[in-house]
Amino acid sequence: MPGLSEEDVDPDPISQFLSWYEYAPCDAVALVTASPQALPSGRMVLLKGVDKSGFVFFTNYGSPKARDLAANPRAALLFFWPPDRQVRVSGWVAEVGRAESERYWRTRPRPSQLSAWASRQSEVIESRTVLEERIVELGSRFPDEVPCPPFWGGYRLIPTSVEFWHHRDDRLLLAAPVFEDLSAGVPADRAAELDVDGCESQSALPR
Ligand SMILES: Cc1cc2nc3c(=O)[nH]c(=O)nc-3n(C[C@H](O)[C@H](O)[C@H](O)COP(=O)(O)O)c2cc1C
Repeated sequence: MPGLSEEDVDPDPISQFLSWYEYAPCDAVALVTASPQALPSGRMVLLKGVDKSGFVFFTNYGSPKARDLAANPRAALLFFWPPDRQVRVSGWVAEVGRAESERYWRTRPRPSQLSAWASRQSEVIESRTVLEERIVELGSRFPDEVPCPPFWGGYRLIPTSVEFWHHRDDRLLLAAPVFEDLSAGVPADRAAELDVDGCESQSALPR
C-alpha cells in the first residue's frame, strides 16, 4: 500500500482513498449516525461504490440508521485497515436514485435478496424458525426474479472532510493529511433533496 509521505499524498482525497482502498482487506466500514436527540450510533456496512460524488452503501430504509439519517442527514465513515491505517470521512448523506439501487439489487445473490425482504432491521425476530419460514414463503411469492423492496436502497455520503492516518512504526511520524470543506456549498437543509440521480457511482467496487 502506498505510504503517506508528502510526495505520495494525492491532492485529490478520493484518488488518495482509492490508492489505499485497492489494497484494503475488506469493504466493511463503520457508519456513524446521530438521532435527532444527538445520540450517536455506529454499525458496520459494506461500501459498494466510491467516486468523486461520494461513498455508497445500501440498507433498509426503515432501519434505525435510516431513521437517524431522515432526521439528521449527516454521518461519518470510519475505515480501519490493519495494522496501521485509518480513514475518517464525514459529510452529508442523501438517498441514491431508485435506478442505482435497483441496479445494485440485481447483482445480489437470491438468498440475500430474500433475506432483505424477510428481515426488518433491528426487529427482534421470535426465532430462527420464524425467519426461515418467512424466507420459504417469500421464495414461493417470488419464484423467479426477486424485486427490489420499496423499503430498501442506497445512500451516498458526500464528503465534507476526509482524514488519512498512517501510524508509522518508528513513531516519528503520524501522518494525517486532512481534506476539509470538500463540498462546503452543501447546506444542511438541502442535503436530503440533493439530486443524486445524475451521479451514479462510476467506480462500483468489484468486491
Ligand atoms: C461486516 C458487516 C457488514 C454489514 N453490512 C451491512 C450493510 O451493507 N447494510 C446494512 O444495512 N447492514 C449491514 N450490516 C449490519 C449492520 O451492521 C447493522 O447491524 C444493521 O444494518 C442494523 O443497523 P441499525 O439498527 O443501526 O439500522 C453489516 C454488519 C457487518 C458485521
